Amino acid sequence: MTDPAFVRRVKRRVSARIHEFFAVCPPGLRQVCAKELTGLNARVHDIQVVPGGVTFLGKLPEACLANLWLRAPSRILMRLARFRATRFAALEKKLSDIDWELFLPAGTDPIIQVTTRTSRLYHSDAIADRCGPIVRAALGTAQRKTGTADPPRVPQTIMIRAENDRFDISLDMSGTPLFKRGIKKQVGTAPLRENLAFAILNAAGFTDRDVLMDPMCGSGTFAIEGAMIQAGIPPGFYRRFACEAWPGFRPAAFAHARSQAAQQFSAASSIFASDVDPDALAILVDNLSSHAFLSPVHPFQLDFFDLLPNRFTNQKGIVVLNPPYGRRLENNMDTPAFYREITRKLAADFSGWRAGLIFPGKQFRHLNHLTLRPFPFFHGGLNLAAGIGTIQTRKIAPGTVKSGGNS
Ligand SMILES: C[S@@+](CC[C@H](N)C(=O)[O-])C[C@H]1O[C@@H](n2cnc3c(N)ncnc32)[C@H](O)[C@@H]1O
Repeated sequence: MTDPAFVRRVKRRVSARIHEFFAVCPPGLRQVCAKELTGLNARVHDIQVVPGGVTFLGKLPEACLANLWLRAPSRILMRLARFRATRFAALEKKLSDIDWELFLPAGTDPIIQVTTRTSRLYHSDAIADRCGPIVRAALGTAQRKTGTADPPRVPQTIMIRAENDRFDISLDMSGTPLFKRGIKKQVGTAPLRENLAFAILNAAGFTDRDVLMDPMCGSGTFAIEGAMIQAGIPPGFYRRFACEAWPGFRPAAFAHARSQAAQQFSAASSIFASDVDPDALAILVDNLSSHAFLSPVHPFQLDFFDLLPNRFTNQKGIVVLNPPYGRRLENNMDTPAFYREITRKLAADFSGWRAGLIFPGKQFRHLNHLTLRPFPFFHGGLNLAAGIGTIQTRKIAPGTVKSGGNS
């Protein structure tokens, strides 16, 4: 049974206080994240776009809701302390001043991640080695009897960042990265991250009523994200967060927020997800079988160049494409040639559709005649962009595209 004095301390020092939080975002998604935070039905304020993400102020329960509802960030950190230290003794003193036991579950042995830049204390391992015993002592981790069968613990991570001798000490609220929605059972060879799929759908103006077509769907990231958005399902609804194990977490309030969200779930519009590769399709079909809300997603095997959208829908919706490029391309086709074919096909058969077409940064000139604007981002160590906009019918250069060849 939890000590009432401890519960009161947690409430006073953690749950009822305003803290600073940091939503870590991939390049290109910070503004989208700031907009999401502004629209969040929670009391968060002082939202600021900063290098690497977005900071905001609020209470812990509100930040837990941000984990549940935000689609753009990769994770959310809670700031515990910020101080200057140039010697280990000063660092240890400051770390000892933190009431670790009010923030992390008793008995935890957290992972300690350290990054340093232009600081006198620059050795990451040495910093982690000083921090570890202090935290373990505060959490009573060292005193735990070895050999006892503890219940499996959610991994907890302390993030220490030092720059110009200034230290930021944070806790990772999310645990598993937020772009993992807890829905896919399998992924294909080059899956897109869900937060990027969201950002591209968002940039293309995806709404509840839009038909969505993903003709190179792989494991179905766009289709699943699109179905979730249209059904009004919070991105974190089917997963857990590290902060759910914290003493300051309020399970009843969080469960209430989840059940309120569930009462608003609605049906998605039609979503067509196709791929030329039967193995990719098998992965998609398996992923779709995991949740009933994915029933509006229609999977089928087809070569994109044989796809005629008006055979499936009389609406002009949104077409998203995440084609393979570089070494992933087969049939000895080079990337520029493949992208030229794709843009010709889009111009021929998708005129009036809105597009979100992912391409390696250098291929943009091939998209010029589609009048798409570039939305740059970074993924898998590469500079990429999505061509966003409405596909206009323009003069199409003579080529080999097989328009109308669908069976
Ligand atoms: C980069 S992967 C897409 C990954 C997907 N967005 C995901 O998150 O899993 C590219 C996909 O394009 C498919 N593809 C390549 N050429 C195609 C074509 N001509 N028609 C349809 N699909 C094609 C590949 O089979 C592969 O699954």
